[in-house]
Amino acid sequence: ANTVEEALESLRAGEPILVHDAADREGETDLIYHADAVTPEAVAHLRNDAGGLVCVALGHDVADAFDLPFYTEEIDHPAAGGHELGYDERSSFSLTVNHRDTYTGITDNDRSTTIQALGEAAANPDATEFAAEFRVPGHVHLLKAAPDLLAQREGHTELGVALAEAADLSSAVVVCEMLADGTGEAMTPADARAYADRHDFTYLEGSAILERLG
Ligand code: 5RP
Ligand code: CA
Ligand code: ZN
Ligand code: ZN
Repeated sequence: ANTVEEALESLRAGEPILVHDAADREGETDLIYHADAVTPEAVAHLRNDAGGLVCVALGHDVADAFDLPFYTEEIDHPAAGGHELGYDERSSFSLTVNHRDTYTGITDNDRSTTIQALGEAAANPDATEFAAEFRVPGHVHLLKAAPDLLAQREGHTELGVALAEAADLSSAVVVCEMLADGTGEAMTPADARAYADRHDFTYLEGSAILERLG
């Protein structure tokens, strides 16, 4: 069943879930795993079945413990000024990283190494020497959740982190947009739900998460 409880169980079991934010926001469905569960096979699923940008969303406190800023705070370039997103006040992008043990950083093995290490680090942020473990720039985009999470922002960043926290997992999830083949657009919610049904994955509307955890 497509319930929040089911989604929490899936995340705990290392299975992916799908979350559609809202028709009046991005109108996109992200494929989401807890970072601890990511393997090279999971990265292959993210790029083949989802196809969007593979990102790791971190809880605000975790990102602060790692000294990770919002991207726009650090970039002194006019293109980083103004905020012109059609659907939100601001983006949640932070830095991009590779684990220092990776080579190019982009392969399924390398991205899995980076993402798994982020999951482990998020479980114990104060014991992590972030810069000793990761280098910037890299091939995994970090996202930083809003300080007050769902009370402040209703993006996949916050929806994913809120689910991880409710599941008693560390605040680190991988998110990647489901894109359509042929239309040039994001996958429709109906097609994303059909994909979830075919694979026996939980599909949630952002509104259901907000009702339960917001
Ligand atoms: C990174 C994105 C995605 O939309 C991702 O879902 C995180 O962003 P948001 O929190 O704005 O939904 O922009 O690929
Ligand atoms: Ca976005
Ligand atoms: Zn390259
Ligand atoms: Zn999103």
